[in-house]
Amino acid sequence: MNNFNFYSPTEFVFGKDRENECGTYVKKFGGSKVLIHYGGNSAKKSGLLDRVKKSLENSGIAYCELGGVQPNPRDGLVYKGIELCRKENIDFILAVGGGSVIDSSKAIAAGVPYDGDFWDFYSGKRIEKALPVGTVLTIAAAGSEGSGDSVITKEDGMFKRGAGSDALRPKFSVMNPELTQTLPAYQTACGATDIMAHVFERYFTNTTEVEITDRLCEAVLMTMVKETPRVIADPNNYEARANIMWAGMVAHNNIVGVGREQDWNSHGIEHELSALYDCAHGAGLAVIMPAWMEFVYKHNIMRFCQMAVRVFGCNMDFENPENTAIAGIKAFRRFLHDIGMPINFAELGAKEEDIPALTEKLGLGDGKTGGFVHLSSEDVSQIYKIAA
Ligand code: NZQ
Ligand code: ZN
Repeated sequence: MNNFNFYSPTEFVFGKDRENECGTYVKKFGGSKVLIHYGGNSAKKSGLLDRVKKSLENSGIAYCELGGVQPNPRDGLVYKGIELCRKENIDFILAVGGGSVIDSSKAIAAGVPYDGDFWDFYSGKRIEKALPVGTVLTIAAAGSEGSGDSVITKEDGMFKRGAGSDALRPKFSVMNPELTQTLPAYQTACGATDIMAHVFERYFTNTTEVEITDRLCEAVLMTMVKETPRVIADPNNYEARANIMWAGMVAHNNIVGVGREQDWNSHGIEHELSALYDCAHGAGLAVIMPAWMEFVYKHNIMRFCQMAVRVFGCNMDFENPENTAIAGIKAFRRFLHDIGMPINFAELGAKEEDIPALTEKLGLGDGKTGGFVHLSSEDVSQIYKIAA
């Protein structure tokens, strides 16, 4: 196991009706004037936004609002948010929505105290300071409610890039599984795929002797394999929703990834798909992740066997372990198909002729990525071809 620090300061406020306590938590973390940031229509339609406002009012907290965050959030609204926060002397940002809303909130939070262009942070500059952020999560997926990460798309050129800092970790996150019951099955499945991908990005490692994190990873993956079909069949199943919601947080606050080298190549490769086609991130991952697995499994066949046997219940072929590794990848792809995810370019709405442009935009040039298997541009192009 490698040396590590683990810092996860967010207070998680989990369970039914907990959004009614927003005001208490904003106050606890020093907020006196809040920007409520939200997405399209879902939080309004469900009445959630009204409940959040009421809770702030009950605690005597002033607020203003900025809605309209799109999935795959754009820089344009972030600039608007920064301007609004400065004009209104906002001291706390409350994200009401999914990963896109939370990431947009984090970008605004980093941009407000910074004199330069907030995009500098998405081009590699370190974030030292940010306004405090709280979240009311409405979809189990990105894990942004517990992470220090934010992913934003620059409209000029449609570049999707990430920034990360402990300064961006939410002060608190309200997680009421009931709020996810209004999700369409497709969005639920996209979220489930993203959660599993966050674990796989950590599971496929070259670090040895990491039994505890291996087992934690497998616990999250097995939970998703069991619970996802249950919520697809019965969207109001609170217990299954609750397990998935907590799994989404555990999958990405890094508790399952500490002390080990991680990969993240599937995410990098996917981000070009959601940037170009504006597809859901989870749907893009459903197409890319099994293709990446097929491309790299020979690097460590026994690790893929471990996944196949422990997570998907495949039989171990001791004579020819490669058969087991392949069976595990097939089982993953079948699972994704069964929960309604696209599993190739055509189903996603992506085009094979775009592969050179997608590869080029990733910007590897003659270099290679890091991770489980270091990939060149040619390798990435091969992975897109397998996915096609
Ligand atoms: O905008 P509204 O109307 O709210 O609709 C949203 C949106 O269309 C809808 N939705 C959310 N909650 C709902 C609901 N509809 C009905 N009922 C509800 N309760 O779902 C759609 C998708 O929402 P979005 O926030 O985009 O989903 P998700 O949480 O999957 O976030 C995706 C974004 O997160 C990034 C992705 O790249 C993508 O941009 N990621 C962020 C990460 C992080 N910050 O740590 C890590 C991830 O790997 C990921 O890259
Ligand atoms: Zn993801």
